[in-house]
Amino acid sequence: MIGSGPGGYVAAIRAAQLGLNVGCIEKEPALGGTCLRVGCIPSKALLESSERYREAKEKLSAHGIGISDLRLDLATMLKRKEQVVSTLTKGVEALFKKNKITRYLGHGRILGAGRVEVTSSKEANELKARNILIATGSKPAALPGIALDGQRIVTSTEALSFNEVPNHLVVIGAGYIGLELGSVWARLGAKVTVLEYLDRVLFGLDAEIAAEAKKIFEKQGLEFRLKSKVLAARVEGNQCRVEVEGQEAIQCDRVLMAVGRGPNTDQLGLENTNIELHQKGFIPVNEKFATNTDGIYAIGDVIAGPMLAHKAEEEGVACIEGIVTGHGHVNYDAIAAVVYTHPEIASVGKTEEHLKATGTDYRKGVFPFRANGRARTLGQVEGWIAILADAKTDRILGVHMLGPHAGDLINEAATAISFGASSEDLARTCHVHPTLGEAMREAALAVSGRAIHF
Ligand code: NAI
Repeated sequence: MIGSGPGGYVAAIRAAQLGLNVGCIEKEPALGGTCLRVGCIPSKALLESSERYREAKEKLSAHGIGISDLRLDLATMLKRKEQVVSTLTKGVEALFKKNKITRYLGHGRILGAGRVEVTSSKEANELKARNILIATGSKPAALPGIALDGQRIVTSTEALSFNEVPNHLVVIGAGYIGLELGSVWARLGAKVTVLEYLDRVLFGLDAEIAAEAKKIFEKQGLEFRLKSKVLAARVEGNQCRVEVEGQEAIQCDRVLMAVGRGPNTDQLGLENTNIELHQKGFIPVNEKFATNTDGIYAIGDVIAGPMLAHKAEEEGVACIEGIVTGHGHVNYDAIAAVVYTHPEIASVGKTEEHLKATGTDYRKGVFPFRANGRARTLGQVEGWIAILADAKTDRILGVHMLGPHAGDLINEAATAISFGASSEDLARTCHVHPTLGEAMREAALAVSGRAIHF
Protein backbone atom coordinates (compact mmCIF):
# COMPACT_ATOMS: atom_id res chain seq x y z
CA MET A 1 0.00 0.00 0.00
CA ILE A 2 1.42 3.41 -0.83
CA GLY A 3 -0.63 5.95 1.13
CA SER A 4 -2.60 5.59 4.35
CA GLY A 5 -5.66 7.74 3.55
CA PRO A 6 -9.16 6.23 3.69
CA GLY A 7 -8.41 4.35 0.45
CA GLY A 8 -5.06 2.93 1.55
CA TYR A 9 -5.72 2.19 5.20
CA VAL A 10 -9.10 0.55 4.59
CA ALA A 11 -7.61 -1.55 1.78
CA ALA A 12 -4.75 -2.51 4.13
CA ILE A 13 -7.16 -3.68 6.81
CA ARG A 14 -9.30 -5.62 4.32
CA ALA A 15 -6.16 -7.24 2.90
CA ALA A 16 -5.03 -8.25 6.38
CA GLN A 17 -8.49 -9.66 7.13
CA LEU A 18 -8.17 -11.79 4.00
CA GLY A 19 -4.84 -13.16 5.18
CA LEU A 20 -2.35 -11.12 3.17
CA ASN A 21 0.92 -9.92 4.60
CA VAL A 22 0.46 -6.14 4.42
CA GLY A 23 2.76 -3.15 4.64
CA CYS A 24 1.66 0.45 4.29
CA ILE A 25 4.01 3.26 3.30
CA GLU A 26 3.11 6.75 4.53
CA LYS A 27 5.33 9.82 4.43
CA GLU A 28 3.48 11.72 7.14
CA PRO A 29 4.02 10.78 10.80
CA ALA A 30 0.25 10.51 11.32
CA LEU A 31 -1.80 7.91 9.48
CA GLY A 32 -5.15 8.73 7.84
CA GLY A 33 -4.18 10.85 4.86
CA THR A 34 -5.67 14.16 3.80
CA CYS A 35 -9.14 13.18 5.03
CA LEU A 36 -8.20 12.57 8.65
CA ARG A 37 -5.32 15.03 9.00
CA VAL A 38 -6.19 18.09 6.91
CA GLY A 39 -9.49 17.42 5.16
CA CYS A 40 -12.84 15.90 6.06
CA ILE A 41 -12.29 15.47 9.78
CA PRO A 42 -10.75 18.80 10.83
CA SER A 43 -13.13 20.70 8.55
CA LYS A 44 -16.14 18.94 10.07
CA ALA A 45 -14.81 19.68 13.56
CA LEU A 46 -14.60 23.38 12.70
CA LEU A 47 -17.97 23.34 10.93
CA GLU A 48 -19.51 21.91 14.08
CA SER A 49 -17.83 24.41 16.42
CA SER A 50 -18.52 27.43 14.24
CA GLU A 51 -22.18 26.47 13.79
CA ARG A 52 -22.54 26.15 17.58
CA TYR A 53 -21.12 29.66 17.88
CA ARG A 54 -23.52 31.04 15.27
CA GLU A 55 -26.39 29.21 16.93
CA ALA A 56 -25.51 30.68 20.30
CA LYS A 57 -25.26 34.13 18.76
CA GLU A 58 -28.30 34.11 16.50
CA LYS A 59 -30.62 31.27 17.26
CA LEU A 60 -30.73 30.27 20.90
CA SER A 61 -32.80 33.29 21.94
CA ALA A 62 -35.73 31.79 20.00
CA HIS A 63 -35.52 28.81 22.37
CA GLY A 64 -35.73 31.13 25.33
CA ILE A 65 -32.05 30.81 26.09
CA GLY A 66 -30.18 34.05 26.69
CA ILE A 67 -26.42 34.34 26.77
CA SER A 68 -24.96 37.54 28.10
CA ASP A 69 -21.24 37.04 27.65
CA LEU A 70 -20.69 35.16 24.43
CA ARG A 71 -17.05 35.01 23.44
CA LEU A 72 -15.13 33.26 20.72
CA ASP A 73 -12.04 31.42 21.93
CA LEU A 74 -10.51 30.45 18.61
CA ALA A 75 -7.43 28.86 20.18
CA THR A 76 -9.62 26.38 22.08
CA MET A 77 -11.70 25.72 18.97
CA LEU A 78 -8.56 24.90 16.99
CA LYS A 79 -7.19 22.76 19.82
CA ARG A 80 -10.39 20.75 19.97
CA LYS A 81 -10.14 20.18 16.21
CA GLU A 82 -6.56 18.93 16.64
CA GLN A 83 -7.66 16.58 19.41
CA VAL A 84 -10.38 15.09 17.22
CA VAL A 85 -7.81 14.57 14.45
CA SER A 86 -5.26 13.06 16.79
CA THR A 87 -7.76 10.61 18.31
CA LEU A 88 -8.75 9.37 14.89
CA THR A 89 -5.25 9.13 13.41
CA LYS A 90 -4.13 7.21 16.51
CA GLY A 91 -7.18 5.03 16.01
CA VAL A 92 -5.86 4.05 12.58
CA GLU A 93 -2.50 3.24 14.17
CA ALA A 94 -4.27 0.97 16.64
CA LEU A 95 -6.18 -0.71 13.81
CA PHE A 96 -2.88 -1.33 12.01
CA LYS A 97 -1.46 -2.99 15.13
CA LYS A 98 -4.59 -5.07 15.64
CA ASN A 99 -4.45 -6.26 12.04
CA LYS A 100 -0.65 -6.77 12.08
CA ILE A 101 -0.08 -4.29 9.27
CA THR A 102 3.51 -3.06 9.06
CA ARG A 103 3.79 0.68 8.83
CA TYR A 104 6.70 2.24 6.88
CA LEU A 105 7.42 5.91 7.48
CA GLY A 106 8.76 7.57 4.35
CA HIS A 107 8.13 8.38 0.71
CA GLY A 108 7.24 5.38 -1.45
CA ARG A 109 8.64 5.16 -4.96
CA ILE A 110 8.04 2.24 -7.30
CA LEU A 111 11.24 0.76 -8.71
CA GLY A 112 9.45 -1.73 -10.99
CA ALA A 113 6.86 -4.51 -10.74
CA GLY A 114 7.01 -5.89 -7.19
CA ARG A 115 9.61 -3.40 -5.92
CA VAL A 116 9.12 -0.21 -3.89
CA GLU A 117 11.69 2.03 -2.26
CA VAL A 118 10.85 3.79 1.00
CA THR A 119 12.90 6.89 1.68
CA SER A 120 12.77 8.61 5.05
CA SER A 121 14.95 11.43 6.36
CA LYS A 122 17.31 8.77 7.72
CA GLU A 123 17.51 5.98 5.17
CA ALA A 124 16.23 4.30 2.02
CA ASN A 125 14.99 0.70 2.01
CA GLU A 126 13.73 -1.51 -0.74
CA LEU A 127 10.59 -3.56 -0.17
CA LYS A 128 9.41 -6.47 -2.26
CA ALA A 129 5.71 -7.17 -2.70
CA ARG A 130 3.61 -9.37 -4.97
CA ASN A 131 1.05 -6.58 -5.28
CA ILE A 132 1.47 -2.83 -4.98
CA LEU A 133 -1.56 -0.59 -4.42
CA ILE A 134 -1.17 3.12 -5.17
CA ALA A 135 -3.46 5.13 -2.90
CA THR A 136 -1.60 8.42 -2.85
CA GLY A 137 -4.67 10.66 -3.07
CA SER A 138 -4.71 14.20 -4.35
CA LYS A 139 -3.38 17.68 -3.69
CA PRO A 140 -4.87 21.13 -4.23
CA ALA A 141 -4.85 22.14 -7.88
CA ALA A 142 -2.73 25.18 -8.62
CA LEU A 143 -3.88 28.20 -10.58
CA PRO A 144 -1.26 30.04 -12.59
CA GLY A 145 -0.96 33.56 -11.21
CA ILE A 146 -1.85 32.58 -7.65
CA ALA A 147 1.21 32.91 -5.46
CA LEU A 148 0.46 30.67 -2.48
CA ASP A 149 2.48 31.77 0.54
CA GLY A 150 0.96 29.48 3.16
CA GLN A 151 0.01 32.44 5.37
CA ARG A 152 -2.25 34.82 3.51
CA ILE A 153 -2.85 33.04 0.24
CA VAL A 154 -3.52 29.48 1.18
CA THR A 155 -5.07 26.11 0.39
CA SER A 156 -7.61 24.33 2.58
CA THR A 157 -4.81 22.89 4.73
CA GLU A 158 -3.79 26.27 6.13
CA ALA A 159 -7.35 27.64 6.12
CA LEU A 160 -8.14 25.01 8.77
CA SER A 161 -5.70 26.68 11.13
CA PHE A 162 -5.85 30.47 10.73
CA ASN A 163 -4.87 31.68 14.18
CA GLU A 164 -7.17 34.69 13.94
CA VAL A 165 -10.45 35.29 12.19
CA PRO A 166 -9.72 37.03 8.87
CA ASN A 167 -11.29 40.45 8.37
CA HIS A 168 -11.99 39.74 4.74
CA LEU A 169 -11.48 36.28 3.29
CA VAL A 170 -11.71 35.85 -0.47
CA VAL A 171 -12.50 32.30 -1.50
CA ILE A 172 -11.64 31.26 -5.05
CA GLY A 173 -14.06 28.53 -6.13
CA ALA A 174 -17.65 27.84 -5.01
CA GLY A 175 -17.15 24.09 -4.71
CA TYR A 176 -17.14 21.80 -1.68
CA ILE A 177 -14.11 23.31 0.01
CA GLY A 178 -14.96 26.93 -0.77
CA LEU A 179 -18.45 26.65 0.69
CA GLU A 180 -17.50 24.58 3.74
CA LEU A 181 -14.51 26.65 4.81
CA GLY A 182 -16.11 29.91 3.63
CA SER A 183 -19.02 29.07 5.97
CA VAL A 184 -16.69 28.37 8.90
CA TRP A 185 -14.95 31.73 8.74
CA ALA A 186 -18.13 33.69 7.93
CA ARG A 187 -19.79 32.21 11.04
CA LEU A 188 -16.79 33.23 13.11
CA GLY A 189 -17.07 36.82 11.92
CA ALA A 190 -15.10 37.20 8.69
CA LYS A 191 -16.44 38.98 5.66
CA VAL A 192 -16.34 36.26 3.01
CA THR A 193 -16.43 36.83 -0.74
CA VAL A 194 -16.67 33.74 -2.93
CA LEU A 195 -15.46 34.12 -6.51
CA GLU A 196 -16.71 31.49 -8.91
CA TYR A 197 -15.84 31.13 -12.56
CA LEU A 198 -19.11 29.41 -13.52
CA ASP A 199 -22.61 30.92 -13.38
CA ARG A 200 -23.63 28.68 -10.46
CA VAL A 201 -22.27 27.21 -7.24
CA LEU A 202 -21.57 23.52 -6.59
CA PHE A 203 -21.27 22.44 -10.17
CA GLY A 204 -22.27 18.80 -10.60
CA LEU A 205 -24.91 18.81 -7.87
CA ASP A 206 -28.65 19.33 -8.51
CA ALA A 207 -29.03 22.84 -9.98
CA GLU A 208 -32.23 23.81 -8.11
CA ILE A 209 -30.76 22.72 -4.80
CA ALA A 210 -27.50 24.55 -5.49
CA ALA A 211 -29.43 27.75 -6.33
CA GLU A 212 -31.50 27.52 -3.14
CA ALA A 213 -28.39 26.78 -1.08
CA LYS A 214 -26.71 29.88 -2.51
CA LYS A 215 -29.65 32.02 -1.35
CA ILE A 216 -29.42 30.54 2.14
CA PHE A 217 -25.66 31.08 2.32
CA GLU A 218 -26.17 34.70 1.20
CA LYS A 219 -28.55 35.16 4.13
CA GLN A 220 -25.80 33.74 6.33
CA GLY A 221 -23.48 36.50 5.12
CA LEU A 222 -21.49 34.94 2.27
CA GLU A 223 -21.12 37.19 -0.75
CA PHE A 224 -21.00 35.46 -4.13
CA ARG A 225 -19.62 36.75 -7.37
CA LEU A 226 -20.42 34.29 -10.12
CA LYS A 227 -18.94 34.37 -13.61
CA SER A 228 -15.79 35.71 -12.01
CA LYS A 229 -12.56 34.30 -13.32
CA VAL A 230 -9.66 34.86 -10.98
CA LEU A 231 -6.52 35.66 -12.90
CA ALA A 232 -4.03 36.35 -10.14
CA ALA A 233 -3.60 36.79 -6.40
CA ARG A 234 -0.57 38.08 -4.56
CA VAL A 235 0.43 39.37 -1.15
CA GLU A 236 1.08 43.10 -0.86
CA GLY A 237 2.28 43.99 2.63
CA ASN A 238 -0.44 42.96 5.10
CA GLN A 239 -3.00 42.63 2.37
CA CYS A 240 -3.74 40.46 -0.64
CA ARG A 241 -4.75 41.65 -4.05
CA VAL A 242 -7.00 39.42 -6.14
CA GLU A 243 -7.38 40.15 -9.81
CA VAL A 244 -10.58 39.09 -11.50
CA GLU A 245 -11.14 39.19 -15.26
CA GLY A 246 -13.11 42.30 -16.27
CA GLN A 247 -13.58 43.50 -12.65
CA GLU A 248 -11.88 45.81 -10.25
CA ALA A 249 -9.20 44.06 -8.16
CA ILE A 250 -10.24 43.00 -4.64
CA GLN A 251 -8.20 43.80 -1.53
CA CYS A 252 -8.51 41.40 1.40
CA ASP A 253 -6.38 39.97 4.18
CA ARG A 254 -6.67 36.27 3.34
CA VAL A 255 -7.29 34.22 0.21
CA LEU A 256 -8.37 30.58 0.11
CA MET A 257 -7.74 28.84 -3.16
CA ALA A 258 -10.29 26.05 -3.63
CA VAL A 259 -10.40 25.40 -7.35
CA GLY A 260 -10.29 21.63 -7.23
CA ARG A 261 -7.71 18.96 -6.55
CA GLY A 262 -5.37 16.97 -8.75
CA PRO A 263 -4.09 13.36 -8.45
CA ASN A 264 -0.91 12.96 -6.47
CA THR A 265 1.63 11.10 -8.57
CA ASP A 266 4.73 13.10 -7.60
CA GLN A 267 7.93 11.06 -7.57
CA LEU A 268 6.03 7.80 -7.49
CA GLY A 269 8.48 6.16 -9.87
CA LEU A 270 5.86 5.65 -12.57
CA GLU A 271 8.67 5.97 -15.13
CA ASN A 272 9.77 2.52 -13.88
CA THR A 273 6.40 1.06 -14.91
CA ASN A 274 4.35 0.99 -18.11
CA ILE A 275 1.81 3.39 -16.60
CA GLU A 276 1.07 6.47 -18.68
CA LEU A 277 -0.97 9.13 -16.94
CA HIS A 278 -4.25 10.29 -18.42
CA GLN A 279 -4.07 13.87 -19.74
CA LYS A 280 -5.89 14.98 -16.57
CA GLY A 281 -3.11 13.46 -14.51
CA PHE A 282 -4.84 10.40 -13.09
CA ILE A 283 -3.69 6.80 -13.34
CA PRO A 284 -5.71 4.70 -15.82
CA VAL A 285 -7.00 1.40 -14.36
CA ASN A 286 -9.37 -1.35 -15.47
CA GLU A 287 -12.54 -2.47 -13.61
CA LYS A 288 -10.36 -4.40 -11.16
CA PHE A 289 -8.29 -1.26 -10.44
CA ALA A 290 -5.29 -2.87 -12.16
CA THR A 291 -2.91 -0.62 -14.05
CA ASN A 292 -1.21 -1.79 -17.23
CA THR A 293 1.75 -3.04 -15.16
CA ASP A 294 1.48 -6.49 -13.57
CA GLY A 295 0.75 -6.41 -9.85
CA ILE A 296 0.30 -2.62 -9.66
CA TYR A 297 -3.13 -1.29 -8.76
CA ALA A 298 -4.50 2.19 -8.03
CA ILE A 299 -7.59 3.50 -6.22
CA GLY A 300 -9.15 6.70 -4.85
CA ASP A 301 -8.34 10.27 -5.85
CA VAL A 302 -5.37 9.15 -7.94
CA ILE A 303 -7.73 7.46 -10.45
CA ALA A 304 -10.75 8.92 -12.29
CA GLY A 305 -14.04 9.76 -10.54
CA PRO A 306 -15.22 11.92 -7.66
CA MET A 307 -12.56 12.71 -5.08
CA LEU A 308 -14.37 11.37 -2.05
CA ALA A 309 -13.01 9.43 0.90
CA HIS A 310 -15.80 6.86 0.85
CA LYS A 311 -15.35 6.27 -2.89
CA ALA A 312 -11.68 5.52 -2.18
CA GLU A 313 -12.61 3.15 0.67
CA GLU A 314 -15.07 1.33 -1.55
CA GLU A 315 -12.50 0.97 -4.31
CA GLY A 316 -9.84 -0.17 -1.85
CA VAL A 317 -12.03 -2.99 -0.58
CA ALA A 318 -13.16 -4.00 -4.09
CA CYS A 319 -9.57 -3.97 -5.36
CA ILE A 320 -8.30 -6.19 -2.53
CA GLU A 321 -11.27 -8.56 -2.76
CA GLY A 322 -10.64 -8.73 -6.52
CA ILE A 323 -7.00 -9.68 -5.92
CA VAL A 324 -7.76 -12.31 -3.27
CA THR A 325 -11.12 -13.75 -4.33
CA GLY A 326 -11.39 -12.73 -7.98
CA HIS A 327 -14.52 -10.68 -7.24
CA GLY A 328 -14.79 -7.04 -6.27
CA HIS A 329 -17.30 -4.45 -7.36
CA VAL A 330 -18.13 -0.78 -6.81
CA ASN A 331 -21.61 0.54 -7.58
CA TYR A 332 -20.78 4.12 -8.53
CA ASP A 333 -24.49 4.99 -8.74
CA ALA A 334 -24.75 4.42 -5.01
CA ILE A 335 -21.85 6.68 -3.99
CA ALA A 336 -23.33 9.76 -2.38
CA ALA A 337 -21.78 13.20 -2.05
CA VAL A 338 -22.32 15.56 0.87
CA VAL A 339 -21.51 19.22 1.42
CA TYR A 340 -21.39 19.84 5.18
CA THR A 341 -22.71 23.38 5.18
CA HIS A 342 -25.73 24.39 7.21
CA PRO A 343 -28.09 23.11 6.02
CA GLU A 344 -26.27 20.16 4.51
CA ILE A 345 -26.53 19.23 0.85
CA ALA A 346 -26.51 15.59 -0.19
CA SER A 347 -26.91 13.76 -3.42
CA VAL A 348 -26.78 10.21 -4.75
CA GLY A 349 -27.39 8.72 -8.19
CA LYS A 350 -28.34 10.62 -11.30
CA THR A 351 -29.21 14.32 -11.30
CA GLU A 352 -32.27 15.69 -13.07
CA GLU A 353 -29.96 17.50 -15.51
CA HIS A 354 -28.38 14.15 -16.41
CA LEU A 355 -31.76 12.42 -16.88
CA LYS A 356 -32.96 15.23 -19.14
CA ALA A 357 -29.73 15.23 -21.14
CA THR A 358 -29.92 11.46 -21.68
CA GLY A 359 -33.64 11.51 -22.53
CA THR A 360 -34.58 9.26 -19.58
CA ASP A 361 -38.27 9.41 -18.60
CA TYR A 362 -38.57 9.98 -14.89
CA ARG A 363 -41.03 11.00 -12.21
CA LYS A 364 -40.06 13.36 -9.42
CA GLY A 365 -41.32 13.47 -5.85
CA VAL A 366 -40.45 16.46 -3.69
CA PHE A 367 -41.08 16.99 0.01
CA PRO A 368 -40.08 20.16 1.87
CA PHE A 369 -38.63 19.99 5.37
CA ARG A 370 -40.99 22.75 6.46
CA ALA A 371 -43.78 20.12 6.39
CA ASN A 372 -41.82 17.69 8.57
CA GLY A 373 -42.59 17.73 12.30
CA ARG A 374 -39.08 16.92 13.49
CA ALA A 375 -37.56 19.65 11.30
CA ARG A 376 -40.01 22.09 12.92
CA THR A 377 -38.92 21.05 16.41
CA LEU A 378 -35.29 21.48 15.38
CA GLY A 379 -36.07 24.91 13.94
CA GLN A 380 -34.40 23.80 10.70
CA VAL A 381 -37.04 23.94 8.00
CA GLU A 382 -35.06 25.07 4.97
CA GLY A 383 -34.71 22.80 1.96
CA TRP A 384 -36.34 19.67 0.61
CA ILE A 385 -35.81 16.10 -0.58
CA ALA A 386 -36.29 15.25 -4.25
CA ILE A 387 -36.54 11.65 -5.41
CA LEU A 388 -36.20 10.84 -9.10
CA ALA A 389 -37.62 7.50 -10.20
CA ASP A 390 -37.74 5.81 -13.58
CA ALA A 391 -41.12 6.59 -15.16
CA LYS A 392 -41.70 2.99 -16.29
CA THR A 393 -40.07 0.80 -13.64
CA ASP A 394 -40.26 3.22 -10.67
CA ARG A 395 -36.66 2.30 -9.81
CA ILE A 396 -34.99 5.11 -7.86
CA LEU A 397 -32.42 6.80 -10.08
CA GLY A 398 -31.36 9.70 -7.92
CA VAL A 399 -32.04 11.42 -4.61
CA HIS A 400 -31.05 15.02 -3.89
CA MET A 401 -31.56 16.98 -0.74
CA LEU A 402 -30.87 20.18 1.09
CA GLY A 403 -31.78 20.22 4.74
CA PRO A 404 -30.99 19.22 8.31
CA HIS A 405 -28.74 16.15 8.60
CA ALA A 406 -28.99 15.55 4.85
CA GLY A 407 -25.55 13.95 5.05
CA ASP A 408 -26.94 11.20 7.26
CA LEU A 409 -30.33 10.91 5.57
CA ILE A 410 -28.69 10.27 2.20
CA ASN A 411 -27.42 6.86 3.35
CA GLU A 412 -30.98 5.53 3.24
CA ALA A 413 -31.19 6.67 -0.37
CA ALA A 414 -27.82 5.06 -1.18
CA THR A 415 -29.03 1.81 0.38
CA ALA A 416 -32.24 2.00 -1.65
CA ILE A 417 -30.31 2.55 -4.89
CA SER A 418 -27.88 -0.20 -4.08
CA PHE A 419 -30.78 -2.64 -3.52
CA GLY A 420 -32.42 -1.45 -6.77
CA ALA A 421 -35.41 -0.21 -4.77
CA SER A 422 -38.43 1.51 -6.31
CA SER A 423 -39.92 4.68 -4.87
CA GLU A 424 -42.85 2.46 -3.86
CA ASP A 425 -40.47 0.35 -1.73
CA LEU A 426 -39.47 3.46 0.23
CA ALA A 427 -43.04 4.73 0.34
CA ARG A 428 -44.22 1.40 1.82
CA THR A 429 -41.53 1.33 4.51
CA CYS A 430 -42.78 2.54 7.87
CA HIS A 431 -40.52 5.41 8.99
CA VAL A 432 -40.30 6.34 12.66
CA HIS A 433 -42.23 9.40 13.82
CA PRO A 434 -41.15 12.08 14.50
CA THR A 435 -37.95 11.89 12.44
CA LEU A 436 -36.37 13.71 9.55
CA GLY A 437 -36.40 10.36 7.74
CA GLU A 438 -40.17 10.70 7.33
CA ALA A 439 -39.40 13.40 4.75
CA MET A 440 -37.73 10.70 2.66
CA ARG A 441 -40.82 8.54 2.77
CA GLU A 442 -43.02 11.51 1.95
CA ALA A 443 -40.81 12.38 -1.04
CA ALA A 444 -41.18 8.75 -2.17
CA LEU A 445 -44.97 9.02 -1.78
CA ALA A 446 -44.84 12.30 -3.72
CA VAL A 447 -43.37 10.46 -6.73
CA SER A 448 -46.90 9.13 -7.30
CA GLY A 449 -48.70 12.19 -5.94
CA ARG A 450 -49.56 10.63 -2.55
CA ALA A 451 -47.59 12.71 -0.04
CA ILE A 452 -49.66 12.98 3.12
CA HIS A 453 -48.35 16.16 4.71
CA PHE A 454 -47.84 18.36 1.66
P1 NAI B 1 -14.50 21.73 -6.58
O1 NAI B 1 -14.15 21.05 -7.87
O2 NAI B 1 -15.61 21.22 -5.76
O3 NAI B 1 -14.82 23.29 -6.89
C1 NAI B 1 -13.86 24.14 -7.50
C2 NAI B 1 -14.59 25.36 -8.07
O4 NAI B 1 -13.60 26.32 -8.45
C3 NAI B 1 -15.41 25.06 -9.30
O5 NAI B 1 -16.73 25.50 -9.09
C4 NAI B 1 -14.68 25.84 -10.41
O6 NAI B 1 -15.58 26.32 -11.38
C5 NAI B 1 -14.04 26.97 -9.63
N1 NAI B 1 -12.89 27.59 -10.32
C6 NAI B 1 -11.90 26.97 -11.01
N2 NAI B 1 -11.01 27.88 -11.51
C7 NAI B 1 -11.45 29.11 -11.13
C8 NAI B 1 -10.97 30.46 -11.31
N3 NAI B 1 -9.84 30.73 -12.00
N4 NAI B 1 -11.68 31.48 -10.77
C9 NAI B 1 -12.82 31.23 -10.08
N5 NAI B 1 -13.31 30.00 -9.87
C10 NAI B 1 -12.64 28.93 -10.37
O7 NAI B 1 -13.13 21.77 -5.78
P2 NAI B 1 -12.77 22.01 -4.24
O8 NAI B 1 -13.87 22.74 -3.54
O9 NAI B 1 -11.41 22.59 -4.25
O10 NAI B 1 -12.71 20.54 -3.66
C11 NAI B 1 -11.75 19.63 -4.17
C12 NAI B 1 -12.21 18.20 -4.06
O11 NAI B 1 -12.25 17.83 -2.71
C13 NAI B 1 -13.58 18.00 -4.65
O12 NAI B 1 -13.44 17.15 -5.75
C14 NAI B 1 -14.39 17.35 -3.58
O13 NAI B 1 -14.92 16.14 -4.05
C15 NAI B 1 -13.41 17.08 -2.45
N6 NAI B 1 -14.00 17.53 -1.20
C16 NAI B 1 -15.08 16.88 -0.71
C17 NAI B 1 -15.70 17.31 0.44
C18 NAI B 1 -16.90 16.60 0.93
O14 NAI B 1 -17.13 15.46 0.52
N7 NAI B 1 -17.70 17.19 1.79
C19 NAI B 1 -15.21 18.45 1.18
C20 NAI B 1 -14.09 19.07 0.59
C21 NAI B 1 -13.50 18.60 -0.55
